Amino acid sequence: MEFAIFCTKVNILIIIIALCSPCKFIQSPIDFGPPNMLQAKNTLSLDFGRIIFDSPSAVLRPQSPEDISLLLTSLFASSFSKVTVAARGAGHSIRGQAQALDGIVIEMDSIPSNIYIHKRGHDEEGFSYADVSGGAMWIELLEESLKFGLSPRSWTDYLYLSIGGTLSNGGISGQTFKHGPQISNVLQLDVVTGKGDLITCSPTKSSELFYAVLGGLGQFGIITRARILLQEAPQKVKWVRAFYDDFDAFTMDQELLISMPDLVDYLEGFIIPNEPSLLSSSIAFPAHLDSMPPFLSEGGSSKVYYCIEFAVYDFQVRDTNVEQVVEKITSQMSYKAPFIYSVEVSYFDFLNRVSMEEISLRSRGLWEVPHPWLNMFVPKSGIKEFKCLLMDNIAVNEFEGPILIYPLLRDKWHTNTSIVLPQASTCSEEDEQVFYIVGVLQSTNPASCSAQCLDGILRRNRRIVEAASTEKIGAKQYLPHHPSLMHWHNHFGRHWNRFVAHKNLFDPLGILAPGQGIFSRIHASTL
Ligand SMILES: Cc1cc2nc3c(=O)[nH]c(=O)nc-3n(C[C@H](O)[C@H](O)[C@H](O)COP(=O)(O)OP(=O)(O)OC[C@H]3O[C@@H](n4cnc5c(N)ncnc54)[C@H](O)[C@@H]3O)c2cc1C
Ligand SMILES: *[C@@H]1O[C@H](CO)[C@@H](O)[C@H](O)[C@H]1NC(C)=O
Repeated sequence: MEFAIFCTKVNILIIIIALCSPCKFIQSPIDFGPPNMLQAKNTLSLDFGRIIFDSPSAVLRPQSPEDISLLLTSLFASSFSKVTVAARGAGHSIRGQAQALDGIVIEMDSIPSNIYIHKRGHDEEGFSYADVSGGAMWIELLEESLKFGLSPRSWTDYLYLSIGGTLSNGGISGQTFKHGPQISNVLQLDVVTGKGDLITCSPTKSSELFYAVLGGLGQFGIITRARILLQEAPQKVKWVRAFYDDFDAFTMDQELLISMPDLVDYLEGFIIPNEPSLLSSSIAFPAHLDSMPPFLSEGGSSKVYYCIEFAVYDFQVRDTNVEQVVEKITSQMSYKAPFIYSVEVSYFDFLNRVSMEEISLRSRGLWEVPHPWLNMFVPKSGIKEFKCLLMDNIAVNEFEGPILIYPLLRDKWHTNTSIVLPQASTCSEEDEQVFYIVGVLQSTNPASCSAQCLDGILRRNRRIVEAASTEKIGAKQYLPHHPSLMHWHNHFGRHWNRFVAHKNLFDPLGILAPGQGIFSRIHASTL
């Protein structure tokens, strides 16, 4: 242990000495230290998107937050260094956000996950919570907390993402309408700022840093530990899918369901552009496929269908009957009868459902392919127009991958975090509460979609963003990617000045998360 830390420090110093000189860059990280500290760099220029491939000059595998602090303190102290630093969680970004061209990538998973569960006793005040390293994955936290009968409240659909990575963005899924995004379920953070300071922050301590970092796209600091709120975990989950062929009925039912948080624990929904899309979205849902809506295969029509997916948690308490709760909910819905299906699965399998899709896609060679994904927050007032815009722009018959669409409630989001939501519309107050997340999660098989075809999809996505960003629809990108500073400025709107002020405060030299493409590195020759 001692030796490992000593080794790391030596390595960091070597990197710093090498990188602080303005013209001398490390050519090969292999030259510096043992391979477990400074790894081969090629995997670090890859991410889930497979669109951007920027190589770093060096890789750091820290053993502790102090190692990260040492690196950033040294870089901050050198006015000549042009070196940038990107924390890499699980590398599941789409557009190189966790890459650092000619800089240093920090592999956050090299710090042990160190999960500590604090279970509140019945007579104790406060909440149960978990302390966990920023580089740990959500699946690890789930497994550990379940040993105590506990679980985080708010999730992402996929659990092989890092805690620090999703907290730097938002973290949304079907529980968000009820508990808010993951960034609304954090009690405290340890953060290493771009100046190298290691700071513990919370809503009451260094609160400006705390809120800035949440949804902050990695611009203000590296999250080395998070304190995540926990609740009692259910035993089982009743998981229901209902089908629609009318968009208005679909969205009205979704909005009805999020108005019943006492009954509903999870709500999502998706657009079904074609039959293969239905089949692939059914992999994890263990209902008989032959009982799926037959209307979908009706004579080659290019009709689009919609599916609401909701869940009721089953704590297996004697006086609550989950069947009755589901019945109470579905009796108020107006799906296309009789196309409703329900299954009961364990809580773990429910949360981990996307990993079944991953296994299936991997087995068909369709996981490690380019993913030109587009995620947008759309005000309720513009959702229908956005849906039309989307369907006009995608090739419905060829589209591969899910198109998620479900409503969220504005008052579950703290306005002081850095995340950008659509501006409240001028409609009634009740309408302003609701906005939608739309995830166009397309994958492109290189066998049928060439580099040119991929480029076409990226340009189409850009057109959709531009058209949806006008006042008429008023949408904002989630997991944003923008081509210029002007676009970033527009993205943040009235919060741009606050975002820039936080940058000047916490990472004034622009060292952190260069792959987001927002700020430039500041060094002696730019001053
Ligand atoms: C299959 C799949 C499913 C997904 N499902 C959902 C979903 O349901 N809901 C949802 O909200 N999102 C979802 N996402 C998106 C996901 O939340 C983001 O891509 C997130 O950034 C991934 O986390 P990561 O650990 O891979 O981050 P990375 O790609 O490693 O990093 C993302 C950004 O955060 C920075 N960063 C990483 N770690 C830290 C840290 N510790 N401190 C500070 N900054 C850091 C990086 O430098 C980078 O800028 C999904 C992505 C995939 C690939
Ligand atoms: C949010 O930020 C404003 C402006 O900086 C501040 O006055 C307010 O106290 C903050 N709210 C919280 C909950 O920290």
